[in-house]
Amino acid sequence: EVIPVIRVGILTASDRGAKGEREDLSGKVIEEMMEAVNGRIEEYVMVPDDLEAIKNSLLAMCEKGLDLVLTTGGTGLSPRDNTPEATLAVVEKQVPGIPEAMRQKSLEKTPNAMLSRAVAGIRGRTLIINLPGSPKAVRENLEVVLPALPHAVELLR
Ligand code: MTE
Repeated sequence: EVIPVIRVGILTASDRGAKGEREDLSGKVIEEMMEAVNGRIEEYVMVPDDLEAIKNSLLAMCEKGLDLVLTTGGTGLSPRDNTPEATLAVVEKQVPGIPEAMRQKSLEKTPNAMLSRAVAGIRGRTLIINLPGSPKAVRENLEVVLPALPHAVELLR
């Protein structure tokens, strides 16, 4: 079976990252891990944790017709964690099995996994998946969904 190229956008939501106060190691983890499923990073943006900023970036990436947008950060409980709300505001359908699987597997590693409010959904032909913010959490969550991504993208085309 031929593995399709997956056209990927990465959105890092981070107040400190957007101010240049922190290097985006999580975005790098995503980039590196996506190579395993033939992912090509076509868009990469870092925005502050503002609902509107995240929403607008997501809309712009969906407009470009990317297959997949992976967000990192802003899924927790602090007042500035807005990524799930921004995602829910732009998707037309949710894909609940994705965050269900991520939390189920992650709970085997840390009880703090239940504190991620990550969601996933579809806008047009673009699948958006929220990942938590730390490089470790990105790795542990993305490895759960990675095996299903080629088929997900195939279904969306
Ligand atoms: N999931 C895994 N697999 N590993 C982790 O270390 N960290 C958790 C959780 N999910 C974690 C995880 C923590 S501490 C938080 S607060 C939430 O993700 C939300 O993270 P975020 O606010 O950076 O998005």
